[in-house]
Amino acid sequence: MPNDHSIDIESVLQEERKFPPSAEFSRRAHIKSMAEYEALYRRAAEDPEGFWKECASELFWFKPFSKVLDWNFPWVKWFVGGELNASYNCIDRHLAGPRRNKAAIIWEGEPGDSRVLTYQMLAGEVARCANGLRSLGVKAGDLVTIYLPMVPEAVIAMLACARIGATHSVVFGGFSADALRDRINDAEAKVCITADGGWRRGQIVELKRSTDEALKQTPSIQKCVVLKRCGNRVEMRPGRDLWWDELMGPQKTVCDPVSVDSEHPLYTLYTSGTTGKPKGVVHSTAGYLLHTLMTMKWVFDIKDEDVFWCTADIGWVTGHSYTVYGPLAAGATAVIYEGAPNAPENDRFWQIIEKYRVNIFYTAPTAIRTFIKWGEEWVKKHDLSSLRLLGSVGEPINPEAWMWYHKVIGREKCPIVDTWWQTETGGILISPIPGATPTKPGSATRPLPGIAAEVVTREGSAVAPNQGGFLVIKRPWPGMLRTIFHDPDRYKHQYFEQIPGVYTTGDGARCDDDGYFWIMGRVDDVINVSGHRLGTMEVESALVSHPAVAEAAAVGRPDELKGQALMCFVTLEGRRKGDDRLREELRNHVAREIGAFAKPDTIRFTDALPKTRSGKIMRRLLRQIAAGDQTLGDTTTLEDLSVLSRLREDEE
Ligand code: PRX
Repeated sequence: MPNDHSIDIESVLQEERKFPPSAEFSRRAHIKSMAEYEALYRRAAEDPEGFWKECASELFWFKPFSKVLDWNFPWVKWFVGGELNASYNCIDRHLAGPRRNKAAIIWEGEPGDSRVLTYQMLAGEVARCANGLRSLGVKAGDLVTIYLPMVPEAVIAMLACARIGATHSVVFGGFSADALRDRINDAEAKVCITADGGWRRGQIVELKRSTDEALKQTPSIQKCVVLKRCGNRVEMRPGRDLWWDELMGPQKTVCDPVSVDSEHPLYTLYTSGTTGKPKGVVHSTAGYLLHTLMTMKWVFDIKDEDVFWCTADIGWVTGHSYTVYGPLAAGATAVIYEGAPNAPENDRFWQIIEKYRVNIFYTAPTAIRTFIKWGEEWVKKHDLSSLRLLGSVGEPINPEAWMWYHKVIGREKCPIVDTWWQTETGGILISPIPGATPTKPGSATRPLPGIAAEVVTREGSAVAPNQGGFLVIKRPWPGMLRTIFHDPDRYKHQYFEQIPGVYTTGDGARCDDDGYFWIMGRVDDVINVSGHRLGTMEVESALVSHPAVAEAAAVGRPDELKGQALMCFVTLEGRRKGDDRLREELRNHVAREIGAFAKPDTIRFTDALPKTRSGKIMRRLLRQIAAGDQTLGDTTTLEDLSVLSRLREDEE
């Protein structure tokens, strides 16, 4: 995987500004100073098992574990022999005290409807859903696919699965029918939970229609549960489809939690890799939950009185870890918003922050750049004085966006936590500690306690400060993925065989003289569009599945708003000539195959793709062409140089 271009990692970003937290923030924070952070980091480094054992007492165990760690490279088990239940930890544990009537979820629908579920109410709904699923025959070890809009029922369904020991597989509502079908089939899910539709910018996203399309080719699915959200007309197939309300309504509001092993798979979540096939990342119950809980405290400094809002969709890992499991395990109040940030107008997010007096706001750089474009006037219409902490995730945040976030949203008062992590890591690994770490715009700063992050060469030796290299994690941590569903070889190969003895993240980074990490983006064939990870191979497979396409190469090019935009080079079958109509058709084809978020921004037709003598597409070159680079560097390995000049002449 770390391939040709990865050796040119070179960091050019120079950023000297430093922003320490205010004394006021530090005084009230869980971790109050760098000295405290350093001590915790040292403690965890010297005695990782003792450290995590101590942390694990924050979870509620039905049966205590007998061993902290079983590390049989690259296979890991944490909290061996322990038993617990994730939904019990996220709900029941809070029912015995003052959190019982606290809001667990504050939900805002796009049309302006809203709902609040206290922990007690959530307990009842989750039990009902768990009983409903049980009545369909779902049991421990079964897989349930959840394809829902951002409604409370998405959280309820996830926790209901956890309650009965079923493993959930949430598929982002923006994925197409084909993408849903592939994910259901890979998971061999028994039940699919969906909705008639969801609201997005005033339009109904017809989820049931896509589900129907997908379920034409999913032999494992026995039942499909349909939530009524938008009231649009849907077809219900007798014997297979059931309305959520009719199924869950009559169920009891209590349901005994199933006690599962620490390592029981809580969920799988599909993410992009370097091949065309998305991989089902498998997360454990105990280690994952503990990681999300600890990071709520360390990184988000969560307090009982906080209102916490992570804007990510539940279909991505950020939604899993920081809308559902982390906040609820911490007994926090989480805001969920169904729709688009510009529905009905560009100030919807600020309106929501004002309405619910949100204290901690966690979003993505691509959103921040969009807000900058929309202009400060939308922000100024609202009172954001409740905010005390801001977070960023998904891609490197450029210093200008950081400064805008700091000044305009944070009023220069809120620390910013730029959190680096991945679907595979389960939770945040590198991030400022808000009451301790002086931040530098654009840096995710230092690794969290227990996280042995390092920047190394391809051979695995540490590089000098300020030199680019591969970001790796040298010791296992509780929240890490356990395997790739149905594909343990891929787990081993992709993460543990690229660089000897360590977990390879696939990101390039450098570490500065203060030990701060600067993430420089992917070193493999994965690109990051609007904070969504896309394998270039996935897009290429989608393109070549169109009858007109002979060959395709997808690359990212820098984009002011999206971080990276998707540019595809396409050669056509036979002597066919490309035109605007075909271009549009191909863009829509990719959207249909994967989802609208994967629609290529640019498609360029070409007679041939530049290849090495061994026939490998020279992506580095294509990337440079895409970025408009005139100095294309070493092209001696190009098989046909005329291909390159043709491509360049063709530039729009
Ligand atoms: O390249 C890194 C980038 O997003 C990748 C992980 O993507 P995904 O699994 O979809 O998870 C996104 C949300 C956790 C990483 O390999 N990335 C994520 N956070 C940051 C980041 N790059 C720089 N800075 C970050 N804070």
